[in-house]
Amino acid sequence: MVQIEPEEEIQIVTKDQINFGENKKLLGRGAFGKVYKCTFTDPEGRAIHAAVKIIDPICKDADIATERRRIYDEFRNMMIPRHPYVIHLLGINMADDLMLIMPLRKECLKKYLACSRTPVPVNRLSRFCSQISDGMMHLHSHNVFHCDLKAGNVLIKDEFHIEICDFGLACPSIDDKGRYRGVLFIDRCYVRINSF
Ligand SMILES: Nc1ncnc2c1ncn2[C@@H]1O[C@H](COP(=O)(O)OP(=O)(O)O)[C@@H](O)[C@H]1O
Ligand SMILES: [Mg+2]
Repeated sequence: MVQIEPEEEIQIVTKDQINFGENKKLLGRGAFGKVYKCTFTDPEGRAIHAAVKIIDPICKDADIATERRRIYDEFRNMMIPRHPYVIHLLGINMADDLMLIMPLRKECLKKYLACSRTPVPVNRLSRFCSQISDGMMHLHSHNVFHCDLKAGNVLIKDEFHIEICDFGLACPSIDDKGRYRGVLFIDRCYVRINSF
């Protein structure tokens, strides 16, 4: 079994702690936002290589309260004890651009598999599968359904270590009234079953 580190306090980050450098480098984009490389200065003044996810407005007319709610929901789903196979947050900014700050990783599993010049060894793939299962078990044991598990939402930390990311579609497995939710995978989509 893997060792779980104690939960850390979340940092509220201001814009001046994030430096994109001269050429803002896009690391990836998905349905909910864009992820850029940056240098994050932590409260002790240490510069850390980081990735910052900036949430896209849902639509042109979306109001700031709705946008805040989305980033807050993603942030809340990540507020579980740390686990080696789940990305953790370095901080959050809800005042300006609505940003989530995470440690910088190499790339996602999708890109890693697509760009590998030689076939990825089977023992490495099975190690990744076992780590993904371990990470998902950790989420479920803290009442979080990820609801969007795919290679683009798995990060390569190094060739021996993955981390699950992207909690934009995640939801608590128990609703406000204490009823259990379920998730079905139908026609390549996750469908939430609201109470049973
Ligand atoms: N911490 C990170 N380090 C490096 N690349 C990242 C990191 N987080 C995300 N990415 C890249 O950005 C892409 C989109 O991030 P993701 O969180 O899945 O956003 P979305 O909700 O828009 O799908 C990922 O597929 C990955 O390629
Ligand atoms: Mg994604």
